Amino acid sequence: MTAPLGVYIHWPFCKSKCPYCDFNSHVREGVEQERWRKALLTELEYAAREAPGRRVETMFFGGGTPSLMEPETVSALIKRTRELWDTAADVEITLEANPTSVEAGRFAALAEAGVNRVSLGVQALDPGALRFLGREHSLDEALEALAIARKSFARHSFDLIYARPGQTPEAWAEELERALALAGEHLSLYQLTIERGTKFFAEHARGAIALPVEEAAAEMFERTQARLSQAGLPAYEISNHARPGAACRHNLIYWRYQDYVGVGPGAHGRFTTGDAKRATRRTSGPEGWLAAVEREGHGTAETTDVTGRDRVEEALMMGLRMTDGIDRALFAATAGRDPVEALGDRKLSPLVEAGFLEIDATHLKATPAGQQRLNALLERLVA
Ligand SMILES: C[S@@+](CC[C@H](N)C(=O)[O-])C[C@H]1O[C@@H](n2cnc3c(N)ncnc32)[C@H](O)[C@@H]1O
Ligand code: SF4
Repeated sequence: MTAPLGVYIHWPFCKSKCPYCDFNSHVREGVEQERWRKALLTELEYAAREAPGRRVETMFFGGGTPSLMEPETVSALIKRTRELWDTAADVEITLEANPTSVEAGRFAALAEAGVNRVSLGVQALDPGALRFLGREHSLDEALEALAIARKSFARHSFDLIYARPGQTPEAWAEELERALALAGEHLSLYQLTIERGTKFFAEHARGAIALPVEEAAAEMFERTQARLSQAGLPAYEISNHARPGAACRHNLIYWRYQDYVGVGPGAHGRFTTGDAKRATRRTSGPEGWLAAVEREGHGTAETTDVTGRDRVEEALMMGLRMTDGIDRALFAATAGRDPVEALGDRKLSPLVEAGFLEIDATHLKATPAGQQRLNALLERLVA
């Protein structure tokens, strides 16, 4: 069987920078669309030389705001991907979209280009919260964009951010009910994190904003998990919920430590080459990346081979995010060793006894208590 591959394409531009966001996203006047189209196609061709002979199972246009790409660019990248690799008949092609009216106006053309799944950054179902989060869209625009997405694409999801300053568990529970009434097959629900270098980081540091206390945030997380399970969209990863069979296959490739290539500024790739996983990272600044691609045919900043213990640790960090945990046989195939054997009893037993991990013949997984403290748990495992 041909090894499956995911293709990630990064569009690094946004209309404005949201105060909480530390993604590789930049505001620029007048992006030269044709020049960018050419450069992305050039690096896609380079990626096909990095990981040849695979079957593309998923593509993901992420950002930044890929709904600001010209549909023609999206179409050209999908078409070229199909020429460069064998492509699964049921290939999943996701695009992240911001729900402004301008972008929703492009959904039909994006669907025509081959996008069959859209992930909408709704972020909040409350007008005050949308303003606080610095979003460009109103609540009405988001609802309208959702309705258009439902008509245009076979599959759709939307993102919300909760545990916002001042938000109580009760207020979130109400917002969650509204979300469920609008949801299709998939929802991504993220707890707000304060990231270094963002506007919120500075405001938080000088005490101008405060996150809900830990117990309130934990209660919101627990209520989210319980209510969504009850509604038929259980979590399949810490922040991602889906109806059975409707998980995002592209994200599963990351969490299962399977192979993907990255195209565009700051994009990462991980693909198997012999006994190693090759890790690639492209230059993150948009202008530097563009110049490198035009000069050299790719914007790779770093290539390393991840082997041995590092490979096991990377796979572990990704795999424990999934609710079903790590499939031990799949892990052995992608990371080179059975995880239970590699970690050893001395590390695992205390964490199993404390109720943070569960191990059986086929799986290693974090319990709900373990998932809530995943970073601390991982620190213990990789120490
Ligand atoms: C690549 S980003 C955004 C995609 C798209 N540009 C948008 O804003 O809708 C993917 C998602 O990460 C989430 N996110 C980004 N920064 C976050 C933060 N600091 N805390 C919680 N969620 C965050 C948001 O829900 C966002 O939709
Ligand atoms: S959240 Fe989305 S729109 Fe806002 S800056 Fe980040 S990538 Fe851009």
